Amino acid sequence: MSGSGRAASRTAVLVCQGRAAADGRFAVGRFADPVAVRLLRAEERGPVAEVRAGTPPEGLRARTGYESVRACAEIMAPRTVAVDDALRARPAGQLVVLGAGLDSRAWRLAALAGTDVWEVDHPASQQDKRARLAEQDAELPVLARSVRFVPVDFALDDLGRELAAAGHDAAAPTTWLWEGVVPYLTRDQVHGTLAALAARSAPGSTLVANYQAPSARARVGRLLTGLLGDSITAGEPWRSLWRSRQWAAALARHGFRTESDQDLRTLAADLDTPTAAAASLRSGRVAVAVHA
Ligand SMILES: C[S@@+](CC[C@H](N)C(=O)[O-])C[C@H]1O[C@@H](n2cnc3c(N)ncnc32)[C@H](O)[C@@H]1O
Repeated sequence: MSGSGRAASRTAVLVCQGRAAADGRFAVGRFADPVAVRLLRAEERGPVAEVRAGTPPEGLRARTGYESVRACAEIMAPRTVAVDDALRARPAGQLVVLGAGLDSRAWRLAALAGTDVWEVDHPASQQDKRARLAEQDAELPVLARSVRFVPVDFALDDLGRELAAAGHDAAAPTTWLWEGVVPYLTRDQVHGTLAALAARSAPGSTLVANYQAPSARARVGRLLTGLLGDSITAGEPWRSLWRSRQWAAALARHGFRTESDQDLRTLAADLDTPTAAAASLRSGRVAVAVHA
């Protein structure tokens, strides 16, 4: 493991706020994440409470934070349901959560009772999550069979070696979950990671991945980043966007056969969740692939 000196991920906090804001409001019966709010600090819970109450704050900065959480809640409900359904449909003894951020599944999904979970993340983000877990007043029970933390920078570290050192068994099937991370990696880093997964994928292994397709909004964002620098993306710029056929081709290069690939707008319509963030929902996708 190496550290590249960067700070803990802010986008990991935003998507956790989105799940906390959606909990009990969207797709009730299909989506629930009561753990999300517990992983947030007091100042991060403020915008969540405002979104849940539908009371936007005064002032541009606070209002911008509110709108980000509101839109994120719309995205997180269908995205979480799609991933949870995929995990339940293909139970495996091993689940590796790549770029885990404040993912709550090991503490939320009873379906993981027979599954060992490895949470892989950038060292700074993982340290932050572990501090949040340690700060809980009452301990959060782990529902998975076990959870282990593996600090890895996908841009620098040898993922396969770190997983082996952490006890992952390459001879047994694994479900790989890669949610909300692909856009932050270059195409080369994505291929490097896929190669590492393929090398440790026993027959029957599955990759559940959420990625972003190109969109007009993303093009404008990239243009602004080019002009104004990384400050507008809080140091987490998008580096790779994939059309679905490009994603399937990239996976095929590493021996993964795509079984399904859905956009979040369609999933939101099926779940009858709000779709005001239609453009973002349309470009967000969840694909499931098996290792041949
Ligand atoms: C938007 S968050 C998603 C977190 C989580 N998967 C979820 O959906 O809630 C992005 C995550 O990708 C991780 N990440 C981004 N670039 C990374 C890198 N080069 N190496 C390891 N992790 C990285 C961040 O640390 C962060 O946890």
